[in-house]
Amino acid sequence: MFSTPFVLSFALLLSLPLLFLLAPRILSPRHVPISLPDELDDLALFHRASLASSHSSAAVTVSHLGTTNPSPKIAFLFLTNSELVFAPLWERFFKGNEHLYNIYIHADPSALVMSPASIFDGRFISAKKTQRASPTLISAARRLLATALLDDPSNTFFALFSQHCVPLHSFRFVYHSLFASSSFKLFSSRFGRVTYRSFIEILDKEPGLWERYTARGKDVMMPEIPFEEFRVGSQFFILARRQALLVIKDRKLWRKFRLPCLKTESCYPEEHYFPTLLSMEDPKGCTHYTLTRVNWTGSINGHPHTYRRAEVSPELVYRLRLSNSTYSYLFARKFSPDCLQPLLEIADTVIFRD
Ligand SMILES: *[C@@H]1O[C@H](CO)[C@@H](O)[C@H](O)[C@H]1NC(C)=O
Ligand SMILES: *[C@@H]1O[C@H](CO)[C@@H](O)[C@H](O)[C@H]1NC(C)=O
Repeated sequence: MFSTPFVLSFALLLSLPLLFLLAPRILSPRHVPISLPDELDDLALFHRASLASSHSSAAVTVSHLGTTNPSPKIAFLFLTNSELVFAPLWERFFKGNEHLYNIYIHADPSALVMSPASIFDGRFISAKKTQRASPTLISAARRLLATALLDDPSNTFFALFSQHCVPLHSFRFVYHSLFASSSFKLFSSRFGRVTYRSFIEILDKEPGLWERYTARGKDVMMPEIPFEEFRVGSQFFILARRQALLVIKDRKLWRKFRLPCLKTESCYPEEHYFPTLLSMEDPKGCTHYTLTRVNWTGSINGHPHTYRRAEVSPELVYRLRLSNSTYSYLFARKFSPDCLQPLLEIADTVIFRD
């Protein structure tokens, strides 16, 4: 028989880890805590991906002299917490270009996303819970980047989308824009190896930036991230391999960005982590603009304008493609699910005709 004091202290000992696990939930119920096991899982994945990448880039250099390399690919990364309603549109976008892309999907485990189209079959990566206004979205994006880096050394661009994003051009147009346009390249070495630039919006001097910077408390970001280095930009970007690697190797900024916000109304970690990190580590490797059009006119509660069925028309597609620069927007958000049918109707005659 066990004596009562022994049982008591044993129970106390058992409840200690439980307390440790539950405390973050009790202290801030709106915040999904990133648990230690999740964090360690991610670290192991990022480590494997960066290790494999350093090996494979050496292999590519060697094989370049002898055999022909496979065509470079675009990795399409979908970050979703609901059904991928635009799957039929994406399926048409990808059709006939199977050797030039890979698809990876991070679906929130609570969303129960079925494979909505054959191209998405078996493309779901090991996912963890995500929540808006929390660093879990950063983790999910990094998980997608690492998985794609690890999966195929031909993945050269890494394009991140939500379930509300749609293409504005054909696959051929997108592929050509990313790979062939010389203004997008940083430099070519004399061995014919090309370094591509990343397409990520990086902005400073935006209204409300100070509130965003201090969302975790005053001086919390110091000394790693002085306010002068803090940036904002679109969460949806297209990274070149070099910057994708840089993102999964980071530990320093992540330690700050993973902290919970005290002011939830100013908490959008995913809009700051990527632009701030890349602007600090490799500003010349980035174009500082995004290729995914978003309409912030009349935004509500941090959400951009969401296009509805009645707004979809050929004119809308033409208007969304236009930018103030020499490039054309390639993708757009945010579209509500009822836009699928009208978009499919103009897919072949308007969207994929370029
Ligand atoms: C942006 O959204 C506003 C409504 O918030 C709308 O009036 C305007 O036409 C939209 N702009 C484009 C280019 O679609
Ligand atoms: C282009 O610039 C004008 C004037 O600054 C601005 O009103 C418009 O929204 C810009 N268009 C795009 C596509 O960024």
